[in-house]
Order: sequence, then structure tokens, then C-alpha cells
Amino acid sequence: MSTTVSTRVAIVGAGPAGLILSHLLAGAGIESIVIDQRSRDEIESTIRAGILEQGTVDLLTAIDPNTRVHTVGDRHEGIELRFEGEGHRIDFAALVDRSVWLYPQHEMLKDMLALRLGAGQDLRFGVTASRVEDAETNRPRVIATDADGGQLTIEAHFVVGADGSRSVVRPAITGDSRSGYFREYPFAWFGILCEAPASADELIYSNSANGFALISQRSPEVQRMYFQCDPEADPNAMSEAQIWEALQSRVPGTTLKEGRIFQRDVLRFRSFVASELRRGRTALVGDAAHTVPPTGAKGMNLAVADVVLLARALDALLGDGDERLIDGYAEQALKRIWKAQHFSWWMTSMLHRLPEAGEFDSRRQLGELRSVVDSEAGRTYLAEAYTGWPLD
Ligand code: DHB
Repeated sequence: MSTTVSTRVAIVGAGPAGLILSHLLAGAGIESIVIDQRSRDEIESTIRAGILEQGTVDLLTAIDPNTRVHTVGDRHEGIELRFEGEGHRIDFAALVDRSVWLYPQHEMLKDMLALRLGAGQDLRFGVTASRVEDAETNRPRVIATDADGGQLTIEAHFVVGADGSRSVVRPAITGDSRSGYFREYPFAWFGILCEAPASADELIYSNSANGFALISQRSPEVQRMYFQCDPEADPNAMSEAQIWEALQSRVPGTTLKEGRIFQRDVLRFRSFVASELRRGRTALVGDAAHTVPPTGAKGMNLAVADVVLLARALDALLGDGDERLIDGYAEQALKRIWKAQHFSWWMTSMLHRLPEAGEFDSRRQLGELRSVVDSEAGRTYLAEAYTGWPLD
């Protein structure tokens, strides 16, 4: 069976980028079809990052003034950098008058899915895109397989790849899906979710002689914590006692509140920016366009920033036939993308222990951390970047 449908904008991927884009387009009177290979349940239950920048929260509040970010989420006005066993607070509110919110990404996805489905969005789960054809023409198409195994062709006026780091839309833009700027890191994060009360009021980013740890949170009853590990580490190879020992030894000065560990995973570290973000009437947003290492939690926020720019450009293009914003989309988006790439790389390199690091490197790193916390300019840069540069 083969079906063809038509729409103005075909969006591949129902993550934060695809869903928010469909919402902004609908607000501008532009209909879209969103497809995702996952089921709704899978999208709503996959645990991802948890930090929303101020601009992301402002946008979610504009989308829905009653957003659960403000009731279920938790506003954080600072973080702690810990090194040589001492904590140093970076006071976002005092330094830049901005905050971040701890609100798990899958909760935000539940909100956006309910909102879009409630508004009658054509949103199809279990539909796997395989490629985009005629990207550079006025009628690009997405070729996909639907939930029943039939071929689905979506003809559109514009195609958006919001389909994550393994994007199938990307090759239609860059030729080769790997074409771009790439860096891999010789370490990863061992992440856990556990049933325990919070060990600290705010997030702790700790540089220790044993390597990095991040003490984060999910709710009053559930905590998220990470420690630096080998990228090849098997998440099931450590006992709970060994995990707690690894974490405790990386945050000297705090006794972590332990509890049952009910999820564990190993997160690889990569930096990537695609060589091109748009060709003709096809564009990339979010992880399809770029990947950042997790330190500093920029990934989802960067996706939201892409989408704000692209929604405006598509409104001008499809509403008024004005091509100027879409012609400038990649250049404009890349300014923020590279700033976020730098910030994520910087936080990563300042806080982790490189396997080959010598005594000089470790002491230099401590000098770098001290340069940040001892200087108002240093703390302000970190606060500005962490809370997020304002969205235009
Ligand atoms: C979390 C993840 C991050 O990468 C980060 O910098 C802060 C918090 C988290 O999952 O809670």
C-alpha cells in the first residue's frame, strides 16, 4: 500500500524541536504534518536532560501560561562549581538576573504532545522516514514507512529535519550524513536515577582528583547523578555500592543521600555541527543539525533557539514569499550554535579529567576554575552562557 499526502511543512521528528515548531507554525496559520518513528509512550518515557534556559521557559510560558514548568519544575538561581573539595556558587540571579528551570524533557514533551494533539495537529507515531527527495525544489517530499508497513509520501512546501543526531533528512542537505565538524571525547558519563531526597539545593558540578561528577535532581523523591567514566563502560557491570562509592569520592565535602538506583546509562560525549543546515526548501534543527556534549545542558535549549529562527523564516517564506530570513537562517543559527559549542566544550574540558592528563594539566585546570570563580567577569560569562543568551 502506498499513500501520498500533502501539507505545507513536513516535520520529521516529534521531539522538542519538531513539536514546538509545529506549534509556532500553527500560530502563523501554517499547517504541518509531524511524523516520528517512536510511539507516543516511548517519546513520553525516555529520560533525557532536565535543564531549561530562561529563554526556553519564556517561550513555553508564552505557548501556555499555565505550563507545568512553573508548578512541577523547579527554578534554580545558581549552580555550584566544586574543586579541591570547596564549593563556589555561581549566583545567576545576582550576576545576570536570569535563572534556569529544572524540568525533565519528557515532562515537557508530554505537555507539548497533549497541546498539539488537542489542537488537531496531524501527528503520526510509528512512521519511519527513510529519505527526502527534491530538497532543492519548491515541492520537496519525505518518503516514509507508516505504522502498518505501507509507503507514505509527504509532499510539502518545506521539509524540516528535527529527527535527532541520526537524522535521515541530513543527507538531503549535506550529501553525506557525516559531513560536518566533529569531535569525540575520551570519556563519557555514567548516569543514574535513584529514589532519594536531594543531596543539595542546587546542582553541583565537581572537578575532583577522581574525575568529574554532576549532582542533579529530578523531583523531591528522585535524583539524577552522573560521574565520568570510560566510553566503553558497561552500565550493568557495577554494583550499586560501587556506583555510590564512585559518586561519593568525586564530591568530597558532601555526603550524598543514597537510595535505590532504578536506571543507569552511559552517555557518550560528542561535538558535531553539520556542514550545512539548509538546502533549498529543506532545513535542519536541533540534534539533526548539531550535537553538544551534555555538560552545561545546552542540547535541547539550542534546538528551541533554532526553531524560533526557523518558524519566523518559514512564516515570511510561506506567508509572504519573502526569502530573506530563510536565506539567512543557517548563518543566524550558527552564531548561537558555535557559542553553545564553545561553552559546552569549555565546561567539559574544565571539569573532566583527561585519561592522559599529567600533573601540569590538572594544576592548570584548577587555575582555570579559580580564574572563573575569583572573577566577577568570569562568573558572569558562565552565568550568561548557562542561563542562555536571549532569544531574538
Ligand atoms: C542535567 C544534565 C546536564 O548535562 C547538566 O549540565 C545539568 C543537568 C540533568 O540531566 O539533570
